[in-house]
Amino acid sequence: MRRTHLLEQLGPEAVGQQLTLTGWVHRLRNLGGLIFLELRDRGGTLQVQVTPQSACFAAAETLHAEAIVAVSGTLQLRPEKQRKPGLGRFELLAEQLELLAESKPLPFPLDDQGVNEELRLSYRFLDLRRPAMQAALRLRHQVFAALYRLLDQRGFLSVETPLLTKSTPEGARDFLVPSRLQPGQFYALPQSPQLFKQLLMMSGVDKYFQLARCFRDEDLRADRQPDFTQLDLEMSFVEQEDVISLVEELVRALFQEVLGADLPRPFPRLRYQEAALRYGSDKPDLRFGLEIQQLGSWAPELPGLPGEGPLSLLAAPPLSRKQLDQLAETARRFGFSQLPWSRLEAGVLSGGIATALEAAGFRPPELPKATLLFLRGQQAGAAFGALRLALRDLLSLLEGAPRFAPCWVTDFPLMEWSGEENRYVSMHHPFTAPNPEDLPLLERGDLGGVRALAYDLVLNGYEVGGGSVRIHRMELQRKIFSLLGLGPEQVEAKFGFFLRALEFGAPPHGGVALGIDRLVMLMAGASSIRDVIAFPKNNRGADPLVDAPGAVEAAQLAELGLRLA
Ligand code: AMO
Repeated sequence: MRRTHLLEQLGPEAVGQQLTLTGWVHRLRNLGGLIFLELRDRGGTLQVQVTPQSACFAAAETLHAEAIVAVSGTLQLRPEKQRKPGLGRFELLAEQLELLAESKPLPFPLDDQGVNEELRLSYRFLDLRRPAMQAALRLRHQVFAALYRLLDQRGFLSVETPLLTKSTPEGARDFLVPSRLQPGQFYALPQSPQLFKQLLMMSGVDKYFQLARCFRDEDLRADRQPDFTQLDLEMSFVEQEDVISLVEELVRALFQEVLGADLPRPFPRLRYQEAALRYGSDKPDLRFGLEIQQLGSWAPELPGLPGEGPLSLLAAPPLSRKQLDQLAETARRFGFSQLPWSRLEAGVLSGGIATALEAAGFRPPELPKATLLFLRGQQAGAAFGALRLALRDLLSLLEGAPRFAPCWVTDFPLMEWSGEENRYVSMHHPFTAPNPEDLPLLERGDLGGVRALAYDLVLNGYEVGGGSVRIHRMELQRKIFSLLGLGPEQVEAKFGFFLRALEFGAPPHGGVALGIDRLVMLMAGASSIRDVIAFPKNNRGADPLVDAPGAVEAAQLAELGLRLA
């Protein structure tokens, strides 16, 4: 067979040469006297011309789509009028053709964009043949390769950490793996390499990274998978500013190298509180404006504006009744039975609650034309956060917007109250350092007010990364565990090893983890991380291709000392 080129290697210098190419029969057109075969490999498609004079004409006549072939012949330039860019410049004049494998008819056409996802996942090996999927795999590879190189250049060592390990708390449930050698005992798959990377700092590795598989048993969404990949990194002798600037520079270099895209310098920064007030979200999409305005305690009892608490306003572009109804649906999800509104044109209010607003002396914002939306109370921020995104999609607000809008969100609260668990829980994870300025609050037990040295990297409204400066003193770490409601036995059982390591001294350290699937999804312009993962799970956490999860044999359970309830 002796293939001479992959299609991606073909250039003008190959014209006139005798080549052997291999690949799939993408399309076949038999014009009676002449057969045009489109040959596809991972680099694209090339037209192959088989003339009746060719020794392989009879063989070509019997081919079907998706057969795998080797074709030899001479590469030539296509006639000028038919020439297209890239591989469309060339065609192969076939002399020999060997059929290497046949294919059953496909369950779906590869160029059909509307195939249901379950079917695509069941035949993922076919689905991955599509050019868009090939491009996604290639992009992902380029991201991995660039990250390895960029981090190596900056003195980071890649270290692997175990997958069969102990629970690493990141706020999700663990996937457990029963031990055969110690029946009744379980490993947990890591939710992240958090504790190991901190141990590596105590080991003196200084600058660590890993393209790490992580496992979290949580409800799935378009941007979540039960197993996913992080670029995990950690640095010693650093403060928050050092980590932020390293990551920012890394991400900027990555986008420049892989996509030729320029990200802003520096990335904008928002404090957590500010992000909530202005965008109703801790992961604001900054590709467009539409900021929420706070009217505070103005007009606490306005007819048509039910509820209690501070009033906020979103000045949207002019909206139709139908659009207002659609938005009211979004507001309902946050417990608002209605979405009060008023039109504004040249300083004059009309429609909706305009009369009530005027009677209360409302001073409208200086906008030529808008529809004003009002909400009041605790949930107003979150609702407006969702309404911003609904408006973005409803009104195509991204037309002409920058392709990428990164930002940092900083000053997250250290802990938040969980009504469900009736205790404070870590907002990031329990190893995150409190802001030293807020230590007096911590001492006083005013836990809700303590800020963390924690930061998220946000891109186009997605949380693509999170990290923090860590606690590096044993006493403070113990105190945080106890404030989180962990008793001494629990602490010993879960984190005894870690506290003992801290007793031997830890350098000040901090780090971050970037969600590689989300990052590549955004770089690819895809809307689900499933589109940039070779073999993802569906939204029920199953892989319909290999049929996982699946039952196991009784003998396997017995060996593990397990019985199904
Ligand atoms: P965190 O839990 O914020 O931090 O995770 C870091 C990033 O990982 C991505 N991510 C996910 N991607 C796909 N599917 C999931 N189920 C999923 N869960 C998280 C997100 C997120 O921002 N150990 C800390 C990092 C640190 O402190 O250094 C951690 O894991 O993009």
